[in-house]
Amino acid sequence: MRIGVLTAGGDCPGLNAVIRSVVHRALAGHNDEVIGFEDGFKGLLEGRYRKLDLNAVSGILARGGTILGSSRLERARLRQACEETEDLSRELGLDALIPIGGEGTLTASSMLAAAGLPVVGVPKTIDNDISATDRTFGFDTAVGVATEAIDRLKTTAESHQRVMVVEVMGRHAGWIALESGMAGGAHGICLPERPFSVDRLCEMVEERFARGKKFAVVCVAEGAHPAEGQMDYAKGEIDQYGHERFAGIGNQLAGELERRLGKEAKPVILGHVQRGGVPTAYDRVLATRFGWHAVEAVHRGDFGQMTALRGTDIVMAPLADAVTELKTVPVNRMAEAESVY
Ligand code: F6P
Repeated sequence: MRIGVLTAGGDCPGLNAVIRSVVHRALAGHNDEVIGFEDGFKGLLEGRYRKLDLNAVSGILARGGTILGSSRLERARLRQACEETEDLSRELGLDALIPIGGEGTLTASSMLAAAGLPVVGVPKTIDNDISATDRTFGFDTAVGVATEAIDRLKTTAESHQRVMVVEVMGRHAGWIALESGMAGGAHGICLPERPFSVDRLCEMVEERFARGKKFAVVCVAEGAHPAEGQMDYAKGEIDQYGHERFAGIGNQLAGELERRLGKEAKPVILGHVQRGGVPTAYDRVLATRFGWHAVEAVHRGDFGQMTALRGTDIVMAPLADAVTELKTVPVNRMAEAESVY
């Protein structure tokens, strides 16, 4: 078989582990040929690809980013691109395509599959917000980075008697904020799923200072927003990919806390640091398992599906199920973290 693989959308620790695993399983297990498209669907549309053999994927298991490069596709171009992709992959004689990506990529993959293309998706995102899978690789790494940041911010906050507002990624789902906030023991956690109360954050800080604790750390997801009437808040613009470019809730919230509390409050925006660098062992294993199962799915003819984690098993889930609704933080998970405001 001739299998194409590509990585699209925002990068994520563990992408290289999937590519490596696909190549290993396809070559050693099935004697397939694997080609890697450069820069996501752009490379497929422009016919930019290279053959991937064992040497091409040697030494990449622990490497962050993606050796194939990635890109985002503008929403308006998506359908047109799907049609072109269909022709191109036929021209290239592809027996199967394995796109590795998040919501946008899986939506495109689902459209390609509906058009009759042999597609097996692999979900990825540090946000962990893809439905139909319990986890995506990259999330564990991002939570680890954010947790370490909170640990570090606590010691400097204490030395200077400051309030630290650490902004983590998560546009629509607050999984990173929830889990890094819990693991780091943040005193306040603000999620996109529930408008937060600045009044309650202030009460929490005041209460801590009143009992002699001279610092506080608030962990806020980039997509979190204040409840109506709590503070002046500038919303972000929608970009060409249909994503909100956030106006920086971390900065805005730190300014509001400083003004209201009369205490120094500093914003720390973690940004893409959460997506870079070495994947954790958990993410490497999950990514490797996804790659192995994607190749097996290709050989079974399980097209229009993606690999998914259910409990400890890897199963196949329809691509359409993965993209209908994002997996957001449910109320019972918020209740377990007393510090969600
Ligand atoms: O979806 C993953 C993610 O890292 C989000 O958490 C974040 O909002 C977005 O991608 C950032 O995208 P970009 O790399 O285009 O800035």
